[in-house]
Amino acid sequence: MRANALLSSLLLVPCLAAAQTTTAGSGNATTTTFAAQFTVPAAADEGALLLPNVFDPTAINAQIACPGYNASSVKTSSTGLTAHLTLAGTACNAYGTDIHDLNLTVEYQTDSRLHINIRPSNIASQNQSWYLLSTDYVPAPSQENGQMTTSDLTFSWSNSVKTGFGFNVTRNSTGDVLFSTTGTKLVFESQFIELVTQQEENYNLYGLGEVIHGLRLGNNLTRTIYAADSGDPIDYNIYGSHPFYLQTKYFEVGNGNSSTPVTQPLDTTNATGNYTSSSHGIYFRNAHGMEILMRPTNVTWRTLGGSIDLYFFSGPAQTDVTHQYLDVIGKPALQNYWGFGFHQCRWGYENWTVTENVVNNYAKFEIPLETIWNDIDYMFQYRDFDNDPIRFNYSDGTAFLNRLHSNGQHYVPIIDSAIYIPNPANASDAYSVFNSGNQTNSFLLNPDGSLYIGEVWPGYTVFPDWLAASAQTWWKNEMAAWIQKLPIDGAWIDMSEVSSFCVGSCGTYNLSLNPVHPGFLLPGEPGDVIYDYPEGFNITNATEAASASSASMAQADATSTATNTAAGTTSSTSTSYLRTTPTPGSRNVNHPPYVINNVQGDLAVHAVAPNATHHNGIQEYDVHNLFGHQILQATYAALAAAKPGLRPFIIGRSTFPGSGTVAGHWGGDNASKFYYMYFSIPQALSFSLFGIPMFGVDTCGFNSNSDEELCNRWMQLSAFFPFYRNHNVLSANSQEAYVWSSVIDATKTAMNVRFQLLPYIYTLFYNAHTSGDTVMRALAWEFPNDPSLADADRQFFLGPSILVTPVLTQGATSVDGVFPGLVEKTDVYYDWYNKTPVSVPSSKNTTIAAPLSHIPVYIRGGAILATQQMAMTTRDARNTSWSIIVAPGVNGTATGSLYLDDGESVQPNATKLVTMSAAMGSLNVTVSGSYTGLDLPLANITILGVTQAPPSNVVMINGDVVANSTYNATSKSLFIGGLEKALGGNVWGGNWTLS
Ligand code: NOJ
Repeated sequence: MRANALLSSLLLVPCLAAAQTTTAGSGNATTTTFAAQFTVPAAADEGALLLPNVFDPTAINAQIACPGYNASSVKTSSTGLTAHLTLAGTACNAYGTDIHDLNLTVEYQTDSRLHINIRPSNIASQNQSWYLLSTDYVPAPSQENGQMTTSDLTFSWSNSVKTGFGFNVTRNSTGDVLFSTTGTKLVFESQFIELVTQQEENYNLYGLGEVIHGLRLGNNLTRTIYAADSGDPIDYNIYGSHPFYLQTKYFEVGNGNSSTPVTQPLDTTNATGNYTSSSHGIYFRNAHGMEILMRPTNVTWRTLGGSIDLYFFSGPAQTDVTHQYLDVIGKPALQNYWGFGFHQCRWGYENWTVTENVVNNYAKFEIPLETIWNDIDYMFQYRDFDNDPIRFNYSDGTAFLNRLHSNGQHYVPIIDSAIYIPNPANASDAYSVFNSGNQTNSFLLNPDGSLYIGEVWPGYTVFPDWLAASAQTWWKNEMAAWIQKLPIDGAWIDMSEVSSFCVGSCGTYNLSLNPVHPGFLLPGEPGDVIYDYPEGFNITNATEAASASSASMAQADATSTATNTAAGTTSSTSTSYLRTTPTPGSRNVNHPPYVINNVQGDLAVHAVAPNATHHNGIQEYDVHNLFGHQILQATYAALAAAKPGLRPFIIGRSTFPGSGTVAGHWGGDNASKFYYMYFSIPQALSFSLFGIPMFGVDTCGFNSNSDEELCNRWMQLSAFFPFYRNHNVLSANSQEAYVWSSVIDATKTAMNVRFQLLPYIYTLFYNAHTSGDTVMRALAWEFPNDPSLADADRQFFLGPSILVTPVLTQGATSVDGVFPGLVEKTDVYYDWYNKTPVSVPSSKNTTIAAPLSHIPVYIRGGAILATQQMAMTTRDARNTSWSIIVAPGVNGTATGSLYLDDGESVQPNATKLVTMSAAMGSLNVTVSGSYTGLDLPLANITILGVTQAPPSNVVMINGDVVANSTYNATSKSLFIGGLEKALGGNVWGGNWTLS
């Protein structure tokens, strides 16, 4: 194997690097001591030099070279049609072997869902090995009841002389063509499938992740979908694989041309100003490496294998599309209530004492802390399910975790995807987790049946084979055994793309060197780069910035000297790219003829190689994008078994459609930059569309050093994301919320709002879990008839009722934002902090004052919010009295709902649903269900937008006088306090009416 050959030659010049040692002790710094260790040469992670097809002007254009297909034997049935597709000419074999015969199946599955599948017919007789994504791994629902639906979608097809078979999907109600391959050729080869679809000008597409990009994808972008361990580069493939898009089309009403979508940017000349929109969604159910080319007039789908397996969702609103999509892939897990508390993490909490000191500091500064996390520091030589016996021993750990638990706090450790394989020459290196997995055939293999041995943090490693049932059992058993030793509360799954730091089975002949050091410097190791700072640091911290810059210049000098010395021995760069040609009847999985624009280049770089083989014979090439999803599923099962009855809390890095059913996701390795703070919003909104609402990013930034201003803004912004965690890379400056005094205050201010909203956020998750609703929402989804919001992604709604307009730029003291519907007078908003109605601005874009430590937050009229109070933990917050905020809409009415349960049981034995409605001076509360755990007093009610003092200040509940109201003429709000004793001290004990 190529990598092994390369490696064995390099082994002649072993380099010794610094390895982490395990020293006991305390201290606040994150310094690490190092000992000698063999370092894998950096070249071990270099692959072939490849030129992605999309950048190669000489690459074969399959649309020109290939013949297309013709449809025949078309049979229609009550639920759809089937047809035979035959190659319409001589095979082109552009990037694989053309498949001569295909089967087309079209199924109207529900009123709103159409399924189109094109796959090879009779694979065996066509002398092809083929992988079709199994429904064992990814659901593929079919027609629901065997009956014709009244679908809003129509499939039509034609054979054209020039291009052969093409099809259209049309929306019946409007005649709008949603998807059209007519006039383009279908290409279907062993390693390359292409489907070109027409698009109108400046179309609005969303989704297709995971990518760091604005929310609206635009028409000049190639989206590669291939799970990669890559720290959040812009516009490249990163951790997750989500071949789903939402498309929204806006139409102008009343100009006589309402069937043509309006385009961005809006032309307002002669416009009526009235618009409608319709949205639809498309899910390409395929786990192969994939590319979606968005171009001005078309969108092209290319995939490296499998089938064309398209689900169309007719919407017609975004909400409908999301519901319809989640009906196929699964609705999000109901999260633990405690999961919405604040989480602190970092790479570099080097022992229990340091970790506990962080917890104590949060308490000292009276900043709520729900959960403390440990990164790989806790492991014994980076091995899963194995704590370092000195720095993180089990007895001290258990005592610490017990202290956390008695405070209502939690503990979540990282668990990596790779498993250390011990050095066979060193008996003391034994690792039982490896042995039990190996004995049960739980690890991926090489094509020859030997173990596939890559390399991650611990050294040479193996990788679980999630397609083998034995691996699931082994994982469950190892997790259970470990939890017996350390009562953790959840799992943070990392490196699951699946990452490997070398090309191929690089450890195969090198195990006697284990544990080896990765072929790059760990953050903070001598010689590593000096971290830079956020934008504007030189302005806000001039002295520090000057000394940081001279240190980094000194470092750069040292590095350039070293490079110069070595220059004579480095080979010159070459531009001869590897391009493979198709071989009839066989596939080249490591170097497919079609080169996708993978962030790592070669598919085998920094990942388990495509030819790694599962025990059932399936190659990693065919299921690469599933690893991260399957480890989440396995972890869910393992935690569910280890903690019966409790909802598993899992945050994972690599995801696939359906991952939201078992886990949440964090945005990966961003950096401490204002622009990454901005990107967190479109990333979160995309994950709303992907059915993974439990989303948050590394607050204050992962890579590089953060600073006070950025952390101040970011701790406030993330307080409105479902998953709220501060995390930092090894060796960067500390960035816990208590490090800077203004950040302490800013954090408490924002947390105060978050805590009040926790019952609302939890109810949003209940709605997500039961109906597939989104939690963080784009402005365009809440205001679907306003085309000017098509790319709004610097503000967002939390649920339907909370509008967040954060400052996202350095040095700003105000922020421009819109209040959708305010100028049009369809909506009203109230400032969260002073409860005052927002006055109608003269133009849509409004400048909002936002000095440091203030994040503008508004309640959208029409809402009733039941709130509780801030406490140091969510457990304690759940014991505080309730308040109700009534925020009437333009018509003076408001509604709200509340879901209550114990916050942690998979199947709660009691729940409660509260609905609230207000109109004409009265508030009605209806309660159903028997859960009593949150039956606490009502402290007060605030009614917003009351234009004048009511004629009487007497407040009655169910006809009894209970209190007096106080009118505030400045904020135009009515406050009713002193309600603790009303309703027998139990606000949700039964129905009531206040007048
Ligand atoms: C990569 C993860 O993305 C990051 O969050 C973590 O700190 C490092 N691995 C170390 O475990």
